[in-house]
Amino acid sequence: MAMTLTVASSLVLFLHFISSIASIDRSQFPNSFLFGVATSSYQIEGAALEDNKGASNWDVFTHLPGKIDDGSNGDVADDHYYLYEDDVELMHSLGVNSYRFSISWSRILPRGRFGQINEFGVAFYNKLINLLLSKGIQPFVTLSHYDIPQELEDRYGAWLSSEVQRDFGYYAEICFREFGDRVKHWVTLNEANLWPKFSYMLGTYPPGRCTQPFGNCDFGDSTIEPYITAHNMILSHAIAISNYKKNYQMKQEGVIGIVLYAKWYEPFRNITADHIAAKRALTFALDWFLDPVIFGDYPPDMKAFFSSRLPAFTDLEKKMLQLKVDFIGLNHYTTIYAQDCKFSCEVATSDGNAMVITTTERNGRSIGEPTPMPYFFVVPDGLRKLVMYIKERYNNTPIYITENGYAQCSNNSVLKQALLNDTDRVEFLQSYLTSLTKAIRQGADVRGYFVWSLIDNFEWTFGYGMRFGLYHVDYSTQKRTPKFSAKWYRRFLTGPVMFHNKNLETLAFE
Ligand SMILES: *[C@@H]1O[C@H](CO)[C@@H](O)[C@H](O)[C@H]1NC(C)=O
Ligand SMILES: *[C@@H]1O[C@H](CO)[C@@H](O)[C@H](O)[C@H]1NC(C)=O
Ligand SMILES: *[C@@H]1O[C@H](CO)[C@@H](O)[C@H](O)[C@H]1NC(C)=O
Repeated sequence: MAMTLTVASSLVLFLHFISSIASIDRSQFPNSFLFGVATSSYQIEGAALEDNKGASNWDVFTHLPGKIDDGSNGDVADDHYYLYEDDVELMHSLGVNSYRFSISWSRILPRGRFGQINEFGVAFYNKLINLLLSKGIQPFVTLSHYDIPQELEDRYGAWLSSEVQRDFGYYAEICFREFGDRVKHWVTLNEANLWPKFSYMLGTYPPGRCTQPFGNCDFGDSTIEPYITAHNMILSHAIAISNYKKNYQMKQEGVIGIVLYAKWYEPFRNITADHIAAKRALTFALDWFLDPVIFGDYPPDMKAFFSSRLPAFTDLEKKMLQLKVDFIGLNHYTTIYAQDCKFSCEVATSDGNAMVITTTERNGRSIGEPTPMPYFFVVPDGLRKLVMYIKERYNNTPIYITENGYAQCSNNSVLKQALLNDTDRVEFLQSYLTSLTKAIRQGADVRGYFVWSLIDNFEWTFGYGMRFGLYHVDYSTQKRTPKFSAKWYRRFLTGPVMFHNKNLETLAFE
């Protein structure tokens, strides 16, 4: 009896799982839609100082004691610099038509604009781009994904100085010139709105600057430096964009945008103050960058609140910002509650400056299914709401979901077999893709979706303990093994109709 019940109930669960997965397929997206996978240079390349590459900020930071949870670094990472042909083959077998990766600035310019162009670096990205194109995979290229030449840090404090604008402009120019005949999608900066917070407010990313109570650092000012560095990022971005639009876009026929990290915020209580707080949290986190790169200035709410702490754009800079982005890239993983705290804020969180307290629980219930990543919960409808918000505020500017994915925690006691059977990730991806189809049906101009990530990789301060890959990587042998999610994605992308004849069990063992 007990046996029968167990079998029956697991059968019900199993059928439920299949039917939820089968509800989404490729035909629900436009034909021209880009479906891809994403990675970034420092997280996968390795070859940290090989073939004349200069040290990046991350090469230096990861070698300082105590900065990375498992004491690891990206010296070797996935060894992608040497294994890129295999990795392109993995993508090809998935059936993706685009690949989002980043160029390592210090591989192209080991010393920024203070030294030579590294021909080995240029040759590597040429080989990668040409191989991708030969397989029908469009390169979707980020100029800087958290890594910059350490030289810029040492010389003038990198993003703290307006000097960095010249360096970024110079680097972008070289990339457009060398690769722009084949790269049709450019991203200036990755998660430009999180970068100042991690690096200059919380101090957890290089150069590790902050003040109490935000974090424990030897130098910095958490109340001011995030806004100065963000300002320099926006202007660096603007210099690259205006150069591209004036000198390259006509002949190269590509598009250029920026990638921002975006949570969705739900009001904690159903009261006006929390509805306003949720909106304010999003404005201070996202419109902070989107307003300047689309409307040419910071959001009025932020200017009023920060007054002189928020740098002002000169008329000349505003004019440059008028050459706006062609698209918005969104890295979206989760949704969080926002509660107004105008009169009682403890601001020592990255959301705190918006006068909100963010929480993941209400009345003892979490906002969605928890995931192994702290603060990441599964709330698929958050993606639709976020996309619709951006559609309304930014006149339906084209959107690419440049990252979305699901982490697995791993350590020596977690078996590889368990990591390969990633049904949680498959459920996550299909539920978020379903949410995205709803936004598209509601008129949002969404043009692509990239799973983070192709392969397990160096997950910043988590080191190798957080695995986002569709492919498992054994770091001692560099062997890549498809997880269930890789098989699911391939079936989603290449199968005419999913799961007609095969059930998940056979797929899992294919
Ligand atoms: C929030 O409150 C309004 C009335 O103030 C009500 O119409 C609405 O249904 C409530 N929403 C939720 C989710 O409870
Ligand atoms: C290893 O990871 C698993 C799964 O996340 C966790 O339950 C376990 O406590 C971890 N073990 C160690 C020794 O950290
Ligand atoms: C995979 O995980 C699911 C539950 O998430 C379980 O039902 C199934 O038996 C597992 N398959 C294998 C091969 O371990």
